[in-house]
Amino acid sequence: MAPVCGIVGYVGARQAQPIIIGGLKRMEYRGYDSAGIALWTPDGLETRKRAGKLVRLEAELADRPLPESRQGIGHTRWATHGGPTDQNAHPHLSGDGRVAVVHNGIIENAAILRRELEAEGVVFRSQTDTEAVAHLLRRALDQEPGLAAALRAVCRRLEGTFTLVVLDAAQPGRIAAARRSSPLVVGVGQDENFLASDVASFIEHTRHAIELGQDQVVEITADTVTVTTFDGDPAPVKPYDIEWDLAAAEKGGFDWFMRKEIFEQPQAASDTLLGRIDQSGRLCLDELRIDRAQLRAADKIVIVACGTAYHAGLIAKYAIEHWTRVPCEVELASEFRYRDPIVTPTTLVVAISQSGETMDTLMALRHAREQHAQVVAICNTNGATIPRESDAVIYTHAGPEIGVASTKCFTAQIIACYLLGLFLAQERGTKFGDEIAELVADLTAVPAQMAALLADLGPIDALAQELVGVESVLFIGRHVGYPVALEGALKLKEISYLHAEGFAAGELKHGPIALVEPGLPVFVVVPPTGRDHLHDKVVSNIQEIRARGAKTIVLAERNDAEAWAQADHAIPLPLAPTLFQPLLAIIPLQYFSCQMATLKGLDVDQPRNLAKSVTVE
Ligand code: M6R
Repeated sequence: MAPVCGIVGYVGARQAQPIIIGGLKRMEYRGYDSAGIALWTPDGLETRKRAGKLVRLEAELADRPLPESRQGIGHTRWATHGGPTDQNAHPHLSGDGRVAVVHNGIIENAAILRRELEAEGVVFRSQTDTEAVAHLLRRALDQEPGLAAALRAVCRRLEGTFTLVVLDAAQPGRIAAARRSSPLVVGVGQDENFLASDVASFIEHTRHAIELGQDQVVEITADTVTVTTFDGDPAPVKPYDIEWDLAAAEKGGFDWFMRKEIFEQPQAASDTLLGRIDQSGRLCLDELRIDRAQLRAADKIVIVACGTAYHAGLIAKYAIEHWTRVPCEVELASEFRYRDPIVTPTTLVVAISQSGETMDTLMALRHAREQHAQVVAICNTNGATIPRESDAVIYTHAGPEIGVASTKCFTAQIIACYLLGLFLAQERGTKFGDEIAELVADLTAVPAQMAALLADLGPIDALAQELVGVESVLFIGRHVGYPVALEGALKLKEISYLHAEGFAAGELKHGPIALVEPGLPVFVVVPPTGRDHLHDKVVSNIQEIRARGAKTIVLAERNDAEAWAQADHAIPLPLAPTLFQPLLAIIPLQYFSCQMATLKGLDVDQPRNLAKSVTVE
């Protein structure tokens, strides 16, 4: 089983090995703990696989080189059941070595299939669910000689989620693949074709791609791509061109993708705004193909998401309710459908996901659609499962996000939610046109403010130097500053492995303040001055923790003298309305976590135990 793996398949005129290994390298960010490759040769399939990172597989390939081949499949596996061993690494072969299989997802009935195959005398060589597919496929080929037909027959027996890519020693020049709920795209080249979990793996070779739908099988040769359903009916093919280029998938002089992506936020923000606001400041979300009457009739908005995307949703709630006066709930996708949520045909569900493949979010949206709710996806990945299964999609145009820690997609997600909120306010008439135009003007100023902030992060470097030895860090904020605190803490946890907690500043005295001891670093997100009592209350919270010896690191507007008086370290923010401040305040926190992890010598882009997209529940 392999829930977040990277898969590459190649058939064409060139040597397959470097293309496959190069493709796997571009997907390293997804997280993995073993890797393998199988190539077709006239003498049969040849495989190499190794536990550990790709460098170990490359060392193995240097020790035991593979013969030349123009056709093969490769895999990076993130172990769940069945440890990250050489035996459990993919590809898995049938007993006679004729077929090779790589797999992403979970075969839920694998135990039953395994028992059935073992009863027939099949000897398993790994603990994976994938191996059963290799044995089943080998048997199916005796009944259905065509590779795609045999794979379809196997898929009809499988339960669960999967992408499978298979090779048959007896069918040169041909690779077949199947997709149910896990990602798979076809790259269409000149005299060559590719299969991959992610377009990043073939972007250096071609920008032409084909989306695959649910329950489809594809067979590629060097010059053909044939897509069918699991029942063998021809399936419509959806070609598209990948908008970003190779440079977007490379570090471009930065030490980490995460750092590069932090610095890409002004561009990601302005690209996400681009074309969605007209000259008079009106929202034009043409892509929101939901009946306008239905949008006006929506009586509840429910945002579902995981991790960082969930934090973006928490921030969006404040704005959406404020602008539209429609109640907005935000729920962790993994909790949503297990509590019998109240969702009706007049509920508008917003599913936020960078990858568009997060299984928890996908399951939540499926549950919502079963209740006949309208679902809008906010997604960064063209053609991914979540947007495909939604009624409408607002894409964030942040470009590929490779670092496991989400940064530019977080701010782009907030912007996309804000565009949706303002559009709803416009449609429902809960804001006048000039009010919307004013908000839009402030929002469009954000990319330049981000750039200004990014130009002056030197003090954060010094701060990270000072704090590199600490074991625990707190983050507090109120209103939209609270989810910013949660996100700041998540960033620090996931890449620096530090104990970090985010709290609502007002909750401190109800418990968390007991954690405060002399020297404990506490980041405080201070709202803009001059707005009701919010600002003053947070300044009081700083005083409370300071009185108990905390080291206060204060993020506040650059002219906020009251906040600065309470700061051991001051991080000035550009002036922005309260609702837009999170788009700025998060940047120093992202950068701080990147800096801390770098100083600790940790792998910033591939933190331990984490994967970029989590395609199992
Ligand atoms: O691809 P998604 O936006 O659906 O991913 C959701 C979370 O898994 C993701 O945000 C995760 O929390 C990140 N590692 C956070 O940096």
